[in-house]
Amino acid sequence: MLVKKYKDLFQNELATFFDTMEIDQFFYLTLEKFHQIKRVDLALHPNFEITLEEQQKWNTVLNQLKTQKPIQYILGETSFYGLTFYVNENTLIPRPETEELVQWILESHLNEACSSILDIGTGSGCIPIALKKNLPTATICALDISEKALEVASKNAVINEVAVTFLQQDILTATKLHQLFDVIVSNPPYVRNLEKEKIAANVLQFEPHLALFVDDNDSLLFYRKICSLAHEFLTPNGQLFFEINQYLGPETIALVKSYGFTQIELRKDIYGNDRMLRATK
Ligand SMILES: C[S@@+](CC[C@H](N)C(=O)[O-])C[C@H]1O[C@@H](n2cnc3c(N)ncnc32)[C@H](O)[C@@H]1O
Repeated sequence: MLVKKYKDLFQNELATFFDTMEIDQFFYLTLEKFHQIKRVDLALHPNFEITLEEQQKWNTVLNQLKTQKPIQYILGETSFYGLTFYVNENTLIPRPETEELVQWILESHLNEACSSILDIGTGSGCIPIALKKNLPTATICALDISEKALEVASKNAVINEVAVTFLQQDILTATKLHQLFDVIVSNPPYVRNLEKEKIAANVLQFEPHLALFVDDNDSLLFYRKICSLAHEFLTPNGQLFFEINQYLGPETIALVKSYGFTQIELRKDIYGNDRMLRATK
């Protein structure tokens, strides 16, 4: 069957679930994953055909999309900071806001010869791997409570050909870190249960709740614990970078300040929401 013709079928089948632009995006991501053909290449090869067997693979994608499963989990990959990452249901799908946090760390450290960095709650490993790719002389460690997430993160370090040390650790019960670091970064769970109604259904249904949610009554518990450890295990003038809950900017600043950090700076993401914070020990 001509892939062009299959595209019409793909559009029609998904029309009641998504808008045309989204369906187009799913179609071209699948085309690239299955056939290594980019959108522009298809325009150049309009007579490209898929076999019956290939069509069955496409149908599997189509049927899973109808259940609202994110395309990244269906195809098993996503792109982050220009790199390809394997993802599955044990890891959060890396977000564009987190790319901005990586960008901020790199802007702050690109000119330094070498530094040690720790990422807390690493998930797919997107933060430490993107950092290591751009700061090849830095020593980079990352931890997560989830063994399954760490398997994904380790696989991603191999895919992207970088060396990162991964550790399984529950940061909430940790009494120390295994060394001093120049930079500690974290995008910890920060969504309150009261915000659940604002969260897209496919996120709630498919992404790991361990990565997302915190108790309404103690929503900054990860930040408090990380600040207390960072205060002890950051080198003098070391920096702390957080991705934060957009509704809790002032509260997060106050918390970080209460641990004695200085030069606290809040940044908005591309959508204009308070999203990340930098502080110096
Ligand atoms: C919001 S996700 C961030 C994942 C990844 N860093 C990213 O930016 O896409 C938070 C991560 O924290 C991990 N996590 C949750 N509770 C934890 C704990 N007590 N100790 C360490 N990691 C934890 C989750 O498994 C999850 O991978």
